[in-house]
Amino acid sequence: MRAVILISGRGSNMRALLEADLPVDIACVISNKPGAAGLDIAAAHGVAIAVVDHRLHPDRAEFDAALAAEIDRHRPDLVILAGFMRVLTEAFVRRYENRLINIHPALLPAFPGLHTHARAIAAGVKLHGCTVHFVTPEVDAGPIIAQAAVPVLPDDTPERLAARVLRQEHRVFPLAVRWLAEGRVRLGEDGTAAVIGVTGGDADHEALVSPNG
Ligand code: GAR
Repeated sequence: MRAVILISGRGSNMRALLEADLPVDIACVISNKPGAAGLDIAAAHGVAIAVVDHRLHPDRAEFDAALAAEIDRHRPDLVILAGFMRVLTEAFVRRYENRLINIHPALLPAFPGLHTHARAIAAGVKLHGCTVHFVTPEVDAGPIIAQAAVPVLPDDTPERLAARVLRQEHRVFPLAVRWLAEGRVRLGEDGTAAVIGVTGGDADHEALVSPNG
């Protein structure tokens, strides 16, 4: 499997993917921001890097067309949004239908959009987490491949909670990409995704209770 990773900044999820020894050829890391720290990390890993600067394009459609042209040069089977902070046009999403995935820092469908950690704390939820999902034209709404949950602690700040969630992002994103590379992710007609060959485990033992007394 060949993949292209899109980033906008720090690139810690991209790094987790690069260091996970996946059966995936990462053909290029593309950033919409020229100074993104993740570009240096990718280059240090020997991965080709490219910049498609959204500020050099008059509108979303033209930016997305330029981005697609750069992506298509690498003929990827999978396009991975790893902290890519631009909303994509429907035309772009359709072009990569069923081979475009994203990681979102919340347990979707709760808390789509931005500032998810602060919103989770404000809502008083006791579990929060992250979601790897296929991208569809509606933002943060596509079929869910994998999720990881963490407790929300009484003294949490958005920063502390974000750090706890991020550690799980770095676990669950490589897992999901591995399953995709192994051909084990099936998309249903009903808009859900299922992973083939995973066991449910022991439901009682594996339940995460928060607060846990
Ligand atoms: C991650 O927490 C990712 O889930 C989030 O941005 C961060 C990027 O960090 N993505 C979104 O909010 C997408 N809407 P990273 O650059 O260190 O991977």
